[in-house]
Amino acid sequence: MRRIAQRLGLRYPLIQAPMAGTSTPALAAAVCEAGGLGSIAIGAVDAKAARTAIADLRGRTARPFNVNAFVHQQAIRDIAIEQAWTGAMTPLFARFGAVPPTTLHEIYCSLNDDPDMLAVLVEAAPAVVSFHFGLPTREAIAALKAQGCLLLASATSLAEAEAAVASGMDAVVAQGFEAGGHRGVFDPGAADEQLGTLELVRILAAKLGVPVIAAGGIMDGADIRAALNAGADAVQLGTAFVGCPESAADEGYRAVLAQAPGTTLTRAISGRPARCLDNAFVGWASTTSTTVPDYPVTYDAGKALIAAARAAGEAGFGAHWAGTGFDRARPIPAADLVALLVQEAGFDA
Ligand SMILES: Cc1cc2nc3c(=O)[nH]c(=O)nc-3n(C[C@H](O)[C@H](O)[C@H](O)COP(=O)(O)O)c2cc1C
Repeated sequence: MRRIAQRLGLRYPLIQAPMAGTSTPALAAAVCEAGGLGSIAIGAVDAKAARTAIADLRGRTARPFNVNAFVHQQAIRDIAIEQAWTGAMTPLFARFGAVPPTTLHEIYCSLNDDPDMLAVLVEAAPAVVSFHFGLPTREAIAALKAQGCLLLASATSLAEAEAAVASGMDAVVAQGFEAGGHRGVFDPGAADEQLGTLELVRILAAKLGVPVIAAGGIMDGADIRAALNAGADAVQLGTAFVGCPESAADEGYRAVLAQAPGTTLTRAISGRPARCLDNAFVGWASTTSTTVPDYPVTYDAGKALIAAARAAGEAGFGAHWAGTGFDRARPIPAADLVALLVQEAGFDA
């Protein structure tokens, strides 16, 4: 146990999850300085912005940190499906005095299709690089390993985890069904076993030869202990950090986090299954039977709707990603949260 913490020289086997749009260099640096591993996500930005974010983080901490990239397949475009989708959203936009975009775009580029992004990562050589939605190319893995980067990939099943290990990943993030945000499933069209975090950790820890990092629904020290007892080498927490003042979550997101009745796994916001707080967008999504376009094309429409709602003063409408443990979130500064988690988990005892 604690092989990753040892290799990276971390005080605690605790990782703040990369959260595209929500994690910030300030959040990651606070976690690094508190003895954990902070992360930033570059899946939603271009190479130039990624370079700036990495430099910003490096300016705030000399400790190791994680940079996370998306490695999804290219969207399969179907104009009829996309038009039917924006058509179904028209009444929703109308609520905010807006209209849906006439055409949708593939707003995010996978690392596997973005040589500029790979060049930024290779040049910056963060201590850890992690991947979501799939695996990078053999060339990318070789280039990052040559720079000394420790490589992690999310997996939601044994098959994905075994593929990750076979590709050369140094450790696997076991993302359970409780997790907030996008499920890291490699193929969103395939059947999903929906394994819970502890069950997935047990399976992967027994079968894989590499360290397993537990992610999903971990909110306090007791959850951390349970994950480590199930065989995890480290834990990764996302939702627990959303409410920290250093995150980029806006007031609407923070308000929903404090009072949502629950969470729902939906494709309707981005095109891939993602766990979101039950807000007005999720409520609408549960009533539509229209076929959802591919990721990230759907997200283009989703983001336009969120912007229209916000412009009309409706804050409770958003990609409010969160895991099932959201109601146990403690919105305190990240350093204080790490200290509390460490004390609850008995790491220093
Ligand atoms: C707001 C939010 C954004 C996320 N964005 C990413 C991301 O960009 N990359 C990634 O690998 N995982 C992302 N995740 C998933 C986390 O890596 C992790 O699996 C999840 O947060 C664990 O579950 P928890 O939220 O219950 O702690 C995100 C999670 C949240 C809550």
